[in-house]
Amino acid sequence: MSEPTATRTESRRNLPPPAGPILKVRHLTTSFRTDDGIVTAVDDVSFDVFAGETVGIVGESGCGKTVTVKSIMRLLPEFTGIIGPKSEILFEDQNIATLDESSMRKIRGDRIAMIFQEPMTSLNPVFRIGWQIDEALKYHTDLDSAGRRARAIEMLELVQIPNPEKRIREYPHQLSGGMRQRVMIAMALCCEPDILVADEPTTALDVTIQAQILRLMDELKKKLGTATMLITHDLGVVAQVCDRVIVMYAGRVIEEGPVHDIFHRPQHPYTRALLQSIPKGGERSRKGADGKRPRLPAIPGIVPSLRELPDGCRFQDRCQFKEQRCVDEEPQLIDHGRGEGSEVRCHIPLTDGDPRAERAAIVGAGGLGDVAGATGKSEEDDV
Ligand SMILES: Nc1ncnc2c1ncn2[C@@H]1O[C@H](COP(=O)(O)OP(=O)(O)OP(=O)(O)O)[C@@H](O)[C@H]1O
Ligand code: SF4
Ligand SMILES: [Mg+2]
Repeated sequence: MSEPTATRTESRRNLPPPAGPILKVRHLTTSFRTDDGIVTAVDDVSFDVFAGETVGIVGESGCGKTVTVKSIMRLLPEFTGIIGPKSEILFEDQNIATLDESSMRKIRGDRIAMIFQEPMTSLNPVFRIGWQIDEALKYHTDLDSAGRRARAIEMLELVQIPNPEKRIREYPHQLSGGMRQRVMIAMALCCEPDILVADEPTTALDVTIQAQILRLMDELKKKLGTATMLITHDLGVVAQVCDRVIVMYAGRVIEEGPVHDIFHRPQHPYTRALLQSIPKGGERSRKGADGKRPRLPAIPGIVPSLRELPDGCRFQDRCQFKEQRCVDEEPQLIDHGRGEGSEVRCHIPLTDGDPRAERAAIVGAGGLGDVAGATGKSEEDDV
């Protein structure tokens, strides 16, 4: 793999990483105007991202992962997407939540770049690959035409696109899905962003290419000190590449902390349920008698509608530990001192991740009530 051209990388390598977070998200609330009124998809979300770290954002479909990062990128639908007035998105201490579009355009793609869930979202089907990379470089660098061509080829080599001199003359539809994804990564990285936002960058790819792309993102992080925000459904990927993890549920952050702490000692029943849904070794690749791969085990119950959220804990209808205060009062996201700085939004955070120990402890304290009986499920079935 060749080294990227010395532009901002070289100067950044000689600088110590910033002491504090490079991105501070505070009280981010994003709503949409719809035909049936306003829906709030992201509700009072706060977190930090530090230079050189990879932060995973996980949660079931519709919990607000993409809306969170699109809010940061300021890529919400112009007339229907609303960032709440108390929201702050502090990039190097500047609140980009209120920045005008022309200033934001200088940050987007240059300082903060995004790999989209669907490659064709950011690749224009009617323009050649080389032209599209060139446009990004024209806008964000001072390179002349020859320099931009060299850099485009270099970036395609970096993402392991074979024969890049030929590929830059091709259109997106002439590339395979995996190659399109890698071209999008090349485009996102060509201006050496400080923050790379990757929304399900490997979902549509086969396992080998997935591993290659994750390795590549990790190498680039080490080389450029880029902070990465990685959205994925794949907790195996989170375990492999993330330093910290943010778990979202129905528009809220419900648990956040170092990845090894969250994985070994999840404190929120929802996080533990997600972890229990990871297929055991080899399950995913083994095909059944019908030739199909087994469905991932689902978490029992459904996510509440954003239009009919309960007053208390948003996870209450799916939680076997629910008690009256969970119905009466929504828990705050706080550090209960049970993990390594991890914060959890639960009145009765789990202590060691063992369902039987948890249940015994809670029943002993008189907290479980008849919820377990009401579910009619065995302990193994439980969330
Ligand atoms: N433009 C929009 N108008 C109205 N509602 C929207 C809009 N975009 C997203 N939403 C709603 O916001 C909620 C969060 O959506 P989001 O795309 O962030 O989910 P997600 O966590 O990224 O899910 P997935 O894992 O399926 O990608 C969903 O209920 C979705 O229907
Ligand atoms: S607050 Fe109550 S209902 Fe919500 S996750 Fe915790 S125990 Fe379950
Ligand atoms: Mg999404």
